[in-house]
Amino acid sequence: MGILDKHGVLEKNVTLLATFAFLVVTVGGLVQIVPLFYLENTIEDVEGMRPYTPLELAGRDIYLREGCYVCHSQMIRPMRDEVERYGHYSLAAESQYDHPFQWGSKRTGPDLARVGGRYSDEWHVDHLTDPQSVVPESVMPKYGFLSARLIEGDHIQDLLATHRVVGVPYTQEMIDSAASDFAVQADPNKDYDGLLERYGEKVSVRNFDGAPGITEMDALIAYLQMLGTLVDFSTFTPDASR
Ligand code: HEC
Repeated sequence: MGILDKHGVLEKNVTLLATFAFLVVTVGGLVQIVPLFYLENTIEDVEGMRPYTPLELAGRDIYLREGCYVCHSQMIRPMRDEVERYGHYSLAAESQYDHPFQWGSKRTGPDLARVGGRYSDEWHVDHLTDPQSVVPESVMPKYGFLSARLIEGDHIQDLLATHRVVGVPYTQEMIDSAASDFAVQADPNKDYDGLLERYGEKVSVRNFDGAPGITEMDALIAYLQMLGTLVDFSTFTPDASR
């Protein structure tokens, strides 16, 4: 009986075939998955990446609540048309503090992974309030009500603590200072040295919506303006050894 005949036995017996198919898939799956548990880190460390500041994190929550991800992705693929339009392709490290990640594949609107710094704060206020006033053919909904909603830093400490549970490296000091860090980032008249010490000199501190009080508009724009700005691509070189 040659090997082909033996295989014939396998092919003609459903139970035997199912058993062997199961074995093959199990072994193959384990070979792929198990090594990942033993790697120190499956994501390359990249200079410049830091956890979101409390105000940015609050803005990100508003982004999720309003379903911006339904029309916008945050992942630039390594393809020429995307890189020319949106900038350097997205790195895994750039979404390492995102829970949940915002990659997506549905683009009714443009990708937002590097929208930070592309427009002024005033542009964002105008655009979010009435997208058609800036881009007449836009199908984006109006979000002007965000300007009328003041937010307090009440739950911000818990929000940071929760993100720490799922792996974001917030220090105890960051969590303890969350409420004050939240308040000073939108108010350059206050003392924001501590905020910059904890999150880095590049953190933008300003009145994002130009109106008094901290509103959901402030938080959302603080978040949008930092998207894709943390890694300096003029000095970044991919580590090919991994
Ligand atoms: C129904 C789909 C839809 C939803 C929901 C939506 N957008 Fe948009 N967005 C668009 C479209 C279409 C454009 C392109 C036209 C324009 O600029 O308005 C756009 C453009 C943008 C731009 C400009 C991007 C660029 O590079 O020019 C930003 C920023 C933006 N949206 C942010 C948001 C935020 C924040 C939310 C949630 C509060 C949101 N969008 C929700 C469809 C949507």
